Amino acid sequence: QPKAFIFDLDGVITDTAEFHFLAWKQLAEEVGVIFDRKFNEQLKGVGRMDSLERILQLNPERAVMPLAEKERLAAQKNANYLELIAKTTPADILPGIEELLRTAQESGVKIALGSASKNAAFVLEKLELTHYFDYIVDAATVKNGKPHPETFTTAADALGVAYSDCVGIEDADAGVTAIKSAGMFAVGVGDAQHLPHADYRVDSTDELEFTDIIRRYEEHQA
Ligand code: BG6
Ligand code: MG
Repeated sequence: QPKAFIFDLDGVITDTAEFHFLAWKQLAEEVGVIFDRKFNEQLKGVGRMDSLERILQLNPERAVMPLAEKERLAAQKNANYLELIAKTTPADILPGIEELLRTAQESGVKIALGSASKNAAFVLEKLELTHYFDYIVDAATVKNGKPHPETFTTAADALGVAYSDCVGIEDADAGVTAIKSAGMFAVGVGDAQHLPHADYRVDSTDELEFTDIIRRYEEHQA
């Protein structure tokens, strides 16, 4: 069986993907950019400054601005986001996730978080899930964000597990690509249209069953 599971946070463990969307949308309105859910798909898994750049590109008049102004906008988005997650509690853990974490831990599988978010440790605390994690990738110290594999390879290196013994779980295409580029088995959560590269895909977290993941992983290795 695999030796480690590396979980994405936003959109896998809890539905903060929706709050990132809403926080960017508020900001986009202030900078005169029209921004919809379809465009938002390409922001999933992408870091704060890179996301801002992509949004600004939508309005050629705002695409060029001083770095200080960009930093102010990124800070504003984060303030919007923090307000939206202020009431997050363990009730916001997505269905099936805590059971999967518990089963994996009981089966001796190591668990890491591979998130692009600088708020990841804070969100895990609010969900009261920190104790399941053997390692949390610090988004601030990873140089290359998803789809680069560094987030996932950093987690595996810290756990001392070979990449081929790792399973990554993601809701974003950028994240699935990062997992695959790391040489790991990629589990995608979401619709097929957005996750064409996953090794194993489910529609939603309540379909994430430990034994199914192990079976699919082993079939893939065979
Ligand atoms: C990722 C989210 O997990 O973290 C992105 O999918 C988000 O939507 C990114 O932009 C960075 O998050 P933060 O909290 O550092 O702004
Ligand atoms: Mg995600």
